[in-house]
Amino acid sequence: MSILRTKSVEQSIRDTEDPTHKLNKNLTWVELTTFGIGVVIGAGIFTMTGRVAHTMTGPSIVVSFLVAALACALAAMCYAEFASTVPVAGSAYTFSYSSMGEIFAWIIGWDLFLELFLASSVVAQGWSAYLNVLLGELGIHLPPEIVSGGRVDLVAMGIIVILGLLLLAGIKESMRVNTALVALKLFIVLFVIFAGIGYVRAANFHPFIPAKAPVESTTSGLTQPLIQWISGAQPTAFGASGIVAGAALVFFAYIGFDVVATTAEEAKNPKRDIPLGIIGSLVICTVLYIAISLVLIGMVPYTKLDPSASLAKAFTMVGKPWMAVIISAGAVAGLTTVVLTMMIGATRVIFAMSRDHLLPPVLSKVSERTRVPYVITIVVMVTDGLAAALVPPGILDEMVNIGTLLAFVMVSIGIIVLRRKQPDLPRAFRVPWVPVIPIASALICFYLMLNLSVETWMRFLIWMAIGIVIYFSYSKGHSRLNGDQELGDIDHQLADIVPDTSSSKD
Ligand code: ALA
Repeated sequence: MSILRTKSVEQSIRDTEDPTHKLNKNLTWVELTTFGIGVVIGAGIFTMTGRVAHTMTGPSIVVSFLVAALACALAAMCYAEFASTVPVAGSAYTFSYSSMGEIFAWIIGWDLFLELFLASSVVAQGWSAYLNVLLGELGIHLPPEIVSGGRVDLVAMGIIVILGLLLLAGIKESMRVNTALVALKLFIVLFVIFAGIGYVRAANFHPFIPAKAPVESTTSGLTQPLIQWISGAQPTAFGASGIVAGAALVFFAYIGFDVVATTAEEAKNPKRDIPLGIIGSLVICTVLYIAISLVLIGMVPYTKLDPSASLAKAFTMVGKPWMAVIISAGAVAGLTTVVLTMMIGATRVIFAMSRDHLLPPVLSKVSERTRVPYVITIVVMVTDGLAAALVPPGILDEMVNIGTLLAFVMVSIGIIVLRRKQPDLPRAFRVPWVPVIPIASALICFYLMLNLSVETWMRFLIWMAIGIVIYFSYSKGHSRLNGDQELGDIDHQLADIVPDTSSSKD
């Protein structure tokens, strides 16, 4: 059946050599790990930790972080195996194309774009909120209509446009800025841990798992997890179910290590560097998150945690407002790298889909001078900026989680499929105990999906339905896998756009 046709791993790798679409290969494992940390540590730890502890988990948020880390660690191994086997831009999209077939690749690409695209808009809104807090502390007051929560969040839009222009200048330049900001962010995170540790009080850890309470009395954003809704249970927070629902929310804080895989094609030595970058950034972030959540919970009773700028406000509460200023400044820097990296990820997924002609080929045009896919970069910059400016904050966060979790489920299944289909393919990194680990990974991620809210599921299903319509009305007919005639026609069109393109017949 044509919707289940696969694109061979060899063909995917050959495509990367096509000069029309060739990207620079200059990223080392240190840069990739930095890139991973740059995108992982962001709004999740700076804002969500306080909100989730306050409303869903209490001190047991530490366990939620561990549960989410377990799901991510299992999925990270699967991502590492795929990225070391298929070092091609597009991450889970490309992996699914090689293993499960075109329709699954389309679904995952469409879903990944949702994750990355919305994540950059959502984090840009958080950036706007933190900048507002920081400037406020310094006595500068922006008009409330143009910041987060205002009528049009022009500040969020502004940061997206600035970062979009930076990306257009070339990925190496973007990485340099990223590295500097990541260093600053790590400093702030360590500052919170070491400055806060002296204020930790054992009493704040009791009760470690608060008794169940009706979820309506909270402001978690999560109205009722689907799993409770299905079982007809009353929506509740705290207790053991609060820990799992909390894990589905703080999962957001880990999102991003998977984005390292979207730059696989730009790594110097992808087979070694990509697994190191993915697993390295996840391990470092997990350790930091556990430490931060222990310190935060220990500093302030969970009932008093500020639901938005919890890290900074915790220091105000213990009488150290100057530390709160430093942390707010660090959050502004930290969130910048997340927006930047999510934008890179979004452009690379669309780049890969367009190169396969599942989306119009013009979207994967690469600049002669900078080797940047500039058409899609401009499209993402404009649409992301508009989404950040116009969609009220707090609506789309869970959509990012559900999209990412689905990608993790599909990548995990893809590992089993590709091992069966092509057992002899060279794999620089191999997931141990296949199929046990990929199955466990898929099940845990799916279970976390079930713990997201009913509304999130509704919105997500609508987005996916739109994707399916596009696939059957455009992508299926234009796919490069349709054969040579189609390919010849499209090469001809490409020759018009990029005069010196060479044929990319496979
Ligand atoms: N993990 C990223 C963040 O927390 C998405 O902002």
